[in-house]
Amino acid sequence: MNKKLLVKVLSVVLALVLGMTVLWACGGEEPQVDEKPELIMATNAAFPPYEFKEGDSFAGIDVDIATLIAEKLGMELVIKDVEFGSIVGGVQSGKFDMGMAGMTVTEERLESVNFSESYATGIQVVIVAEDSTITSLDDMLADGSMKYGVQQDTTGDIYASDTVENGGYGEENVIRYKTGAEAVQALKAGKLDAVIIDNEPAKSFVAANEGLRILEAEWAVEDYAICIAKENTELLEKVNGALAELEAEGKIQEIIDTYIK
Ligand code: ARG
Repeated sequence: MNKKLLVKVLSVVLALVLGMTVLWACGGEEPQVDEKPELIMATNAAFPPYEFKEGDSFAGIDVDIATLIAEKLGMELVIKDVEFGSIVGGVQSGKFDMGMAGMTVTEERLESVNFSESYATGIQVVIVAEDSTITSLDDMLADGSMKYGVQQDTTGDIYASDTVENGGYGEENVIRYKTGAEAVQALKAGKLDAVIIDNEPAKSFVAANEGLRILEAEWAVEDYAICIAKENTELLEKVNGALAELEAEGKIQEIIDTYIK
């Protein structure tokens, strides 16, 4: 080897060693502190008081409970705001780790995903205009010409769209909206006779909009739970464990009480 070549080889080696030392030193300077695994939760944040947007961040009963679950699991909660109807499929395909959206446990959904233990109860109710002549669910059935607004793919949609024989109002009389809030705006604008939606969001919407009232009648009582992919039994167990602890610590009730007076 001539001298020139030797110098070249040595300088390359030196550069490599230096480079690696620098890399190693930088890595050492910023140790990966607290790199928690993510817990990706899909929701539809237009459903107060369970989930809603507060500026750029999310708030609500589900958000607070999920935050505590993630804390207990040593994970970092990441919330994705998506269309309600895409939550179950996204959880099933593994795009999201869990779906938490005031979501009712139904037989049909159970065919695609698992549900945690229930953490809350929901009731389907009916919102009408304050001056509406509707006083009962029977009034709604008797008049075949009414239009009912629902949030697409919710249980309110599923029940209302069913045939009259099955207790619904017929698909042709149901108008589907992306969010409950949009259905409520349509009701206010006189485009609908009634909106069928869960009771707590119904109360929030009626409080935030003048000229609306909720019928006394309760339609269906439902259990809310967190959906998780069928094969992810490990997460299901962990979430159920965390929920049981939070329940025992009184935290679930505490959270519900801060949002529902
Ligand atoms: N409880 C109803 C259902 O499961 C409605 C839930 C809607 N939730 C929402 N975040 N928009 O179908």
